[in-house]
Order: sequence, then structure tokens, then C-alpha cells
Amino acid sequence: MDYTDFVTRLNANYDELKWLYCELYHNDMMAFHYFTDMLRRMYSQRRQSLLELDRQRIQRPDWYRSNGLLGMMLYVDNFAGNLQGVREKLPYLRECGVNYVHLMPLLQTVKGRSDGGYAVADFRKVQPELGTMEDLEQLADACHDAGICLALDFVMNHTSEDHPWARAARAGDPVARARYFFYRNWDVPNEFEKTVPQVFPTTAPGNFTYLPDCGEIVMTTFYPYQWDLNYANPMVFNDMTENLLFLANRGMDVIRLDAIPYIWKELGTSCRNLPRVHTLSRMLRLACEIVCPGVLLLGEVVMEPAKVAPYFGTEEKPECQLLYNVTTMCSTWHTLATRDVRLLRRQIEQLRALPRGSTFQNYLRCHDDIGWGLDYPWLSQFGMEEVAHKQYLNDWFTGKRPGSPSRGELYNDDPRLGDARLCGTTASLCGMETDEELGLQCDLMMHAWMLTQSGIPVLYSGDEVAQFNDYAYHDDPDKQADSRYLHRGPFNWNLALRRHVPDTVQARLFSGLRRLEKLRAAEPLFGCEADFNSFETGSDAVLGVRRSLPGRELIALFNFSPEPQTLRLGMRCVTDLLTGEKLDLGCFELPGYGFVWAKAEGLS
Ligand code: GLC
Repeated sequence: MDYTDFVTRLNANYDELKWLYCELYHNDMMAFHYFTDMLRRMYSQRRQSLLELDRQRIQRPDWYRSNGLLGMMLYVDNFAGNLQGVREKLPYLRECGVNYVHLMPLLQTVKGRSDGGYAVADFRKVQPELGTMEDLEQLADACHDAGICLALDFVMNHTSEDHPWARAARAGDPVARARYFFYRNWDVPNEFEKTVPQVFPTTAPGNFTYLPDCGEIVMTTFYPYQWDLNYANPMVFNDMTENLLFLANRGMDVIRLDAIPYIWKELGTSCRNLPRVHTLSRMLRLACEIVCPGVLLLGEVVMEPAKVAPYFGTEEKPECQLLYNVTTMCSTWHTLATRDVRLLRRQIEQLRALPRGSTFQNYLRCHDDIGWGLDYPWLSQFGMEEVAHKQYLNDWFTGKRPGSPSRGELYNDDPRLGDARLCGTTASLCGMETDEELGLQCDLMMHAWMLTQSGIPVLYSGDEVAQFNDYAYHDDPDKQADSRYLHRGPFNWNLALRRHVPDTVQARLFSGLRRLEKLRAAEPLFGCEADFNSFETGSDAVLGVRRSLPGRELIALFNFSPEPQTLRLGMRCVTDLLTGEKLDLGCFELPGYGFVWAKAEGLS
């Protein structure tokens, strides 16, 4: 094994790594040496093909910022039964134009206590129903051959109570207990509860769980069977980093850092986004830079806007390469329900102010609920107050308000705080269950807007063929308490077949999306390097976005209302990207839920 690259990269980052580590772990040099030895060991286990990928990516460090990337997130079992099935279905993913696939959690978990796979009982083992680690590696190889990158979750805030560490802790092993937060009585937990909000207020209230069999209390921010790891213990950090690198060595290109804002706990705080979280994520980034520099970190930071961007780190000390654009996602649904684009316009300006290197993953729907983390202080000037507005949005998307075609369901409805979240697939939330034609226009417009944003667009599997909500989860005792299963139904291959049947909704949506995606991939104006801003369209229902590069410009318009809007933009002729025809934006009518992508060239 040739360690030259490893040694060069370790040396280049050594001082910073050591400084961060020793400061966090009180100069525990033994732990630090264990850590660097572990890095070396993980490097030695990296396959030749992955080392080669690392080399290529170092040459093109911006490889993931190309407008040619299109993502899809999917559940292995829902999509194709198991990992081998996914491999067989790669041609379908290619047909979708997808070259970046996020596999939802697939590691060992306990049925009925899995939180959709986010309660991991073994970080080195695939759920037997889905296959083996070898299957995962084979899938990664097949994906790489087909030009597809793979992303996998790294659930690092907690383990399942069935993880060997948790079992040993339960049985009284003090070393294992030190990996978690164990308490003899409720004094400290009660203190924490004074300042720590709840993640699952109805499905799993509180942040601690009493274990009757051993008479102890353990910290469980999420479900009671998900025990929070204590990252103040260097053994936890060392072993979890090793687990991360193990997954990277299986051929994963992107590692999703699940629930990263939660990983550091301190009494008297909210236990979210604490400064130490950034020390830890910086150290993880350094570990990857040293061992597997081709691998990217995607931070799952579902927080209000100001809390998200710090997870990119700084130019000198970067943390995650990718973050979810959760704020734009939420604000997009808000805009649909209010037909008022002002908040989105503000958000566009806020995104524009971020350093150009910040790359977001854009999406309409994912496996989780929509949490309505909007900019309420700003919205209140228009009379939209937090509690009442959340109520409005939830009423709209559950179809309770007159005129709403949406069919969603509430998630963790907390009447105490007036705080419920929302579930449903894109098609159902866009109203296709009740008004197919208008819903289809709406769905296309929403995707067109998503594809206009800078960053990586990621589809939610099933959305490309307008899959509706799956109401069957109500009858499954393992799922019925968690309404997120509403949009986690099995992929409907019969529905997908209709993409080839002309004039069906599936064919129109599928081909409509493909057209947009191809245009996006071919047009540099959609790239991360293009500047973007929003402009006034004269209608609060119509979002106007301009993307520009020297000498050329893209004008994009999105009507968030079902009513046609007459616009007087006073702009010269442009070329409609979709039809290739000239378009006069001087005075024209944009149909209900219509959109335009138009190009102007030869600008000075
Ligand atoms: C993340 C996941 C969510 C899960 C939670 C706990 O937020 O997206 O599905 O419930 O982490 O691991």
C-alpha cells in the first residue's frame, strides 16, 4: 500500500485537526493517536477504484456543482424490493435522467422500532431483507459504471437501543454507558427539559426515557428507542468516524449527516446548533479530506434560515459541501397556499448574499414532513402570525379550506403550541387527487421552479409519475402512528408504465420533467456560477427570477395562482427555451400555474 497521498493530506491538516481534537477532548493524546491510526487504517482499506475516483475529484473539486446533476431519493424496499433490485432498475433511473441517488437508511434496524431506518442497530450490516454489504458495494460499482453517484445516511446523533453499545449499557457496563447520557434520577433530565424543545411532541414526547429494567434514565431526543450518543466522549467520536469512513469505503459518494445540529448537548441550552457541533463537523470534514477526499458531506440541517448556512463552514475551514435548501422548500409550499411570492423573493436575495461556493440540494418533497420553519418575524408585517399562519397552511394542505384541492395529513399536531407539520406527496399536495388537470399544471410549475434554483435538484421517488399519497399506512400497526408513511408508499410500477402511454398524466408529467431537466443540464445559465435575483412582476402571485452570466440571461416566471395573470414586464423579445419561439414579454398572459423559461442573448 502506498501511503504517500494519505501522509501528504494528513500532514497538511494535522495541526488544525490536533488543535480541534485536543481542545475538545482535553488534550487526550491517546485518543488522538488512536484517531489518526484509525484514519490510516481506513485509508488502507479503500479500494483502488475509489482511490482513483478520489484522485479525479481532487482534480475537479467543483464536480458536484455542475448543472448536469439530477438527484432522486428512494427507499430500497419501496422502489425495488432489495439492493439487487435497485441494480436491476438502474436503467429506469437513467431514463429519469438521474445521476445521483440517495438511498434511504438501509442498515440493520429493528422492525417496529426503526424510525424508517433511522434507528441503527449495526453500522456495518445491511438489513437482511435488503441484502448484504457486498450487494451495497456491487450497487455502488454498478452506479459508478453508469455515471451515478450514491448517497447514504449516516445516522450519528443516536443508535438504536438494540445496538451492542446500548445493550451493554443497559446491562450495566460503565464503559458502554459513558457512550450515552445515563441518569439515576430525574434531576438533570428535568433541568434539560426546561430548555430543550421536543422533536416528536405527540409521537414521542420528552427528551428522556426511563428504562424500567435497569432503573436508569437515558437521553432520547427522537424516539425512546433512539439513544443519543455522547460526543463529549472521544471514544464515541473515534468509533463513529470510523463507521462513517466504513460507509465511504463501501463506495458511497455522499454521506448525509443525519440530524447533525443535535449532536452536542449542554445543560441550559436548546441542545441545537451549539458551537461544538461545528467543531465536530469540521473534524469529520478533515477526516474525509484525509482519507477519502472524493466523498462529500451533506448536512441535514432542518432549521430556520440563519442556522443553516453556518454548516457550510468558512472558505478556510469548510464543513459540509452540501446542505438541504429547507427554507426555500418550505417557503415554496407557503407561496402555493398564499399565492403571494414576497417571502420567496426575500429568500432568493438571502441566498444570493451567501458565498458563491455554498451548494444546496433543492427539493419539493423528501421522506420527512414539511415543518413550516418560515421567517415569521418578517411575515408578521403582512399580518401572518406564526400560530395562525401555520394553522392556515395546514388547513390549506389538508383540504380543509374552501377552494383547496390539496390532500395532505398533519404530522405531530401539538395543540399546546399550535404547531403541526404536514405530510403528503407532491402530486397530492398539488391537488391532483381532486383536480387532475390543474394539479398537473401546478406540479410541473413547482418542479420547474425547483429546477431553476442553483444547486442540485433532487426528486422524491414517485413524484416523476405523480404518485399519490399511500393511505394504507393507516392499517399497519407499525406505521399508523407516524403520518410520514403517507408519502413513503411502495413505488407503483404500474403507474410508472403509463409514462409511455401518450396523453396520460404520467406521460405528460414524466416527459415534461425530462424536457426541463435536459434543458437545465445543457444550459450554463442554470449552473452554480450564474448570478441570480428576483424581480418585480407586477403580480404578487408571479415570481420573476433572473439568472445571468456575462452577455446572457434567463428570465423565469412562475404563476403560483390557478388564475391567469396579465403581466406587463416592459421587456424586449426573448426566446422561449421550451418552444424555441420568440416571446414578447412586453404584455402577455401567464396561464394559471403557468411558467416560462426564456433566454435573452447578446446583452451588453
Ligand atoms: C432526521 C431524519 C428523520 C428521522 C430523524 C431521526 O431528521 O430525516 O426521518 O426521524 O433524523 O434520526
